[in-house]
Amino acid sequence: MKFAPLHPRFGKTVENVDLRDVTATHLYPEIRDLFEHHSALLFRGQNLVPDDHQRLAELFGPLENRDAMAAGRDVAFEIPVVSNENGDGVLGADSLHVLNLQGNMLWHTDSTFLPVPALINILVARVLPSHGGETELASTRAAWADMPEEMKAVFRDAIIWHRLSHSRARISAELARHSAMTRWPDRPWRAIWPNPVTGEEALFVASHAFAIEGRGHEESAALLKDAIAFCTRPEYVYSHVWRKGDVLIWDERATLHRGRSWDYREPRTLSSICCSVTEADGLSEVRIV
Ligand code: OGA
Ligand code: MN
Repeated sequence: MKFAPLHPRFGKTVENVDLRDVTATHLYPEIRDLFEHHSALLFRGQNLVPDDHQRLAELFGPLENRDAMAAGRDVAFEIPVVSNENGDGVLGADSLHVLNLQGNMLWHTDSTFLPVPALINILVARVLPSHGGETELASTRAAWADMPEEMKAVFRDAIIWHRLSHSRARISAELARHSAMTRWPDRPWRAIWPNPVTGEEALFVASHAFAIEGRGHEESAALLKDAIAFCTRPEYVYSHVWRKGDVLIWDERATLHRGRSWDYREPRTLSSICCSVTEADGLSEVRIV
């Protein structure tokens, strides 16, 4: 295994690894260590069929199965796709589905509105448009380390409330009313997530964040907006131009991400598996007891 920096402040490109060979005892320990220390990993030229993708994800933790979480019982896991096409072809730019993809273009962290947040997203490129459709990552660990003390003071002991329909309302009122967006009760998490392996702290925030405990609506909105703007300054952002065979993974505890637009007449399909955090990943550090 060989690696090189992905960005000056975070991330690694990992070479000489076929992700199909990774098992709990072979390569996973090294990859997991890189993930804890560097927050984002890129593997080029991979050849993961859906079963390989799922097997890789299972090494990191329980697969996030939103339908099972919502139903409170077992529901068969299906690998989620981030795509503007279905069996009938490319979906219209004004369809609720494509509007929901536009929600992904706001800087966010996945799953902060769920009963258990996500540890990781493992994204595999399947169909790519001719231009655009990049995925960008921002290090909330590097940004937190650099943040002016005045801004840090707001968040150091803060609790942030998250709601999926809050981010969707910025795209479309109709989208925000959809049952898939309103099915999760508001969720509070502590704003700072210390990494359990390295001790490094990161700001845990998202487009879904709608309030800071104990602060008014407008004050919360302004503080959250400024903090996300700080974390996503160009010096903290890696912009990924996808190639077929790329596998990009990121630490949801220490990054923000967003998709970039493309010509929606062209198909773009990525498969995405998130794993939920467990106690070993520092869940108790952010959980409100
Ligand atoms: C995601 C996501 C962005 C993109 O898969 O969680 O936000 O570039 N994707 O499609
Ligand atoms: Mn996402």
